[in-house]
Amino acid sequence: MHDFRHVNGKLCCEGVTIESLVKQHGTPLYVYSQKTLRDHFQELDRALVPLDRLICYAAKANSNLAVLRTFADLGSGFDIVSEGELRRIMAAGGDPAKCVFAGVGKTEPEIEFALRQGIYCFNAESEPELARINRVAARLKKVAPVAVRVNPNVDAGTHHKITTGTYANKFGIAFEQIEGVYARASKLKNLRLRGLQMHIGSQLTEVQPFELAVRKVAPLVAALKAQHGLEFFSIGGGLGIVYRSALASGDAKWWRTPEAKNIITPQSYAARLVPLLQPLGLHILLEPGRFMVGNAGLLVTRVEYVKRTGKKNFVIVDAAMNDLIRPAFYDSYHEIVPVRRKGGVTVSSDVVGPICESGDYFAKDRPLPKVRQGDYLALLSAGAYGSVMGSNYNSRPLAAEVMVSGRKSALVRARQPIGKIWEGERVAQWA
Ligand code: LLP
Repeated sequence: MHDFRHVNGKLCCEGVTIESLVKQHGTPLYVYSQKTLRDHFQELDRALVPLDRLICYAAKANSNLAVLRTFADLGSGFDIVSEGELRRIMAAGGDPAKCVFAGVGKTEPEIEFALRQGIYCFNAESEPELARINRVAARLKKVAPVAVRVNPNVDAGTHHKITTGTYANKFGIAFEQIEGVYARASKLKNLRLRGLQMHIGSQLTEVQPFELAVRKVAPLVAALKAQHGLEFFSIGGGLGIVYRSALASGDAKWWRTPEAKNIITPQSYAARLVPLLQPLGLHILLEPGRFMVGNAGLLVTRVEYVKRTGKKNFVIVDAAMNDLIRPAFYDSYHEIVPVRRKGGVTVSSDVVGPICESGDYFAKDRPLPKVRQGDYLALLSAGAYGSVMGSNYNSRPLAAEVMVSGRKSALVRARQPIGKIWEGERVAQWA
């Protein structure tokens, strides 16, 4: 589900042409549809109506203030992993009391800051972390709400770099150790055992691993509720999205592609999980990131050169792996469509960026309509883990970001001025 369509051959985000945005803001340019963001939140929330629930959007997927504000306005909570994310959420008008703080390496200053802001819960990932949270809370004369992240040892069947719920991963505490950990933690005076959390991985395209994990953990959480009065169970994020749409082939009914037909949906997710979760009588938290923003954003780039070497046709664009690292890092697939569709022949092309690395590519041997210098291409499904994973590699400025609502658009991050890239650096002055 998203709001990017070709209308009379011109790619539009809701009621705005991508060409008009490019004219105003240049490229590389991230474009987000606010309607898609809202629809995704509401669709997931609606599917889970039978539950006492709170969606805590995983801010790491896209922490632009405008995105955070959109979700905050819908009543969303947030899953955060750093002081920086908490500060962003506050800057965007989000409520710290709806924030859960994840991550294996929380520092003392981060714990102190989050505690002072009154977050909903720390999701602790080790016993030393519980001890540290207890110590900081004692120093501040507070009681810290905590949950422990259980590692259920269920293989999510996703890319190895985004699998988190097996014993080969650094995350959480092993399923078998959890009851002992809660028993010991219950003796720490400045902790309140508020819940249990899990997250098994990202881009899960089937419900089964979620179901296996919930089935395995539900009796544990019920026992912990009885023993320690837990109030919530967070089932994490991980809902996968469609990356291979048929938009490229000109089919507006992209959801009819084989990938789209079989993929997990809020409805199929809810149908299998609600019956397992409802009897627990707990507040259920979800931490979706990608599902909420992935298909709500695209990255527009300009064709700088077209060249043929040996047997290959290279389309060299002005976006690079510093703007969208997913293809280089996870071999991930992003649909590429022309901003203005002209028809004509299709050429098998490698779409590459200007960075001096062979890994700086967006597509290999991809059938693409023939393009020329100055044409614009859009990399779809780039709303999640796109701009947030951007860097200044090769001293390239961070891309601009625009949000669209109906016929309106707003620049929600200005392109980084080149001079700002080395701001804070100094030539060493030896005494
Ligand atoms: N909760 C926790 C504790 C997480 O670690 C994550 C993601 C989420 C929720 C949200 O997961 P999602 O619903 O987005 O799948 N950069 C990678 C994805 C890394 C995911 C990290 N953790 C990518 O581009 O595919």
